[in-house]
Amino acid sequence: MRVVSGIQPTGNLHLGNYLGAIKRWAAMQTQGECLFFLADLHAVTVYNDPAELAANVREMAAALLACGIDPERSTLFAHSAVPAHPELAWLLNCVARIGWLNRMTQFKEKSGKNRESASVGLFDYPVLQAADVLLHRASHVPVGEDQKQHVELMRDIALKFNTDYDVDLFVSPEPLIGATAARIMSLRDGNAKMSKSDPSDMSRVNLTDDADTVAQKIRKAKTDPEPLPESMDALGERPEARNLVAIHAALSDEEPQAVLARFAGQGFGAFKPALAELLVETLRPIKARLDMFREDPAELDRLLALGAEKARATAQPTLDGAYKAMGLRR
Ligand code: TYM
Repeated sequence: MRVVSGIQPTGNLHLGNYLGAIKRWAAMQTQGECLFFLADLHAVTVYNDPAELAANVREMAAALLACGIDPERSTLFAHSAVPAHPELAWLLNCVARIGWLNRMTQFKEKSGKNRESASVGLFDYPVLQAADVLLHRASHVPVGEDQKQHVELMRDIALKFNTDYDVDLFVSPEPLIGATAARIMSLRDGNAKMSKSDPSDMSRVNLTDDADTVAQKIRKAKTDPEPLPESMDALGERPEARNLVAIHAALSDEEPQAVLARFAGQGFGAFKPALAELLVETLRPIKARLDMFREDPAELDRLLALGAEKARATAQPTLDGAYKAMGLRR
């Protein structure tokens, strides 16, 4: 099993990223060979202040290490340090179809009404994402639900390349989407995804929030006056309640049903303080480690350079194979 996944180094790591992806990345390190990267080449598909982007790459590297990504076991690097990624993306651009990209819902959401003024990179970035994974011949891609369509696109691109050029070069990767934390929702709206781009900071828990802020965000999280039922099915029409139960279950490594079994019949007056305490206890050691890694930028740079070197070595044979298959001399 070879695992590849990435995260954009923009702003803070929030609870959706942590439960939907990073916590699961950390757990997978014992199950296979893992490569994790900071997708800075994705971040520049929208304008980013250059100094801020550079700082965010280090900050996100520190956050991943704090969440348990072990640089001895896994390959941790920044996208832009491995030019084979954008290089392969160009070759795959010539295989991917415009019609396929036109179907990407994330581009539609992100470009909104301003499609014509979105960058070409924003439209094309699912192909770079395909290169990220196909380059390392990954078998599995742990992501949240919002990335599922992008992983399906990778499979289509891999198949078309292998078929067109009659090779067995690319591996079709499987998306690995968590059962309880596939889609963590905003604390203010149970129908919107928890996201870095939501203008309200009260909509998300950041991994850097202090205990008081976490408690306040959970206390103010939108809910309803009904007590919690005994089964998840009964939460069908209550998206905010379902979200908080899912967050609890993902944090405590339980089935949502087991959480409900303890809280059935009780209201949010009882549930919210328990959830806030669980969150604070989960974040405490992560924050302590984050502070430690932040203090040593030289060590972060050293680890990222080491990771990039390893990633360049894994990438090269596949990149060479793609050039050769296409009849390119280099
Ligand atoms: P990004 O940076 O938006 O998110 C990183 C990871 O966090 C997951 N995630 C969530 N999961 C559950 N609930 C949420 N509310 C939530 N918000 C975010 C995302 O699904 C993702 O797994 N395009 C990718 C980065 C990328 C990548 C790749 C991923 C670049 N190349 C190759 C996998 C493989 C992105 O923008 O993720």
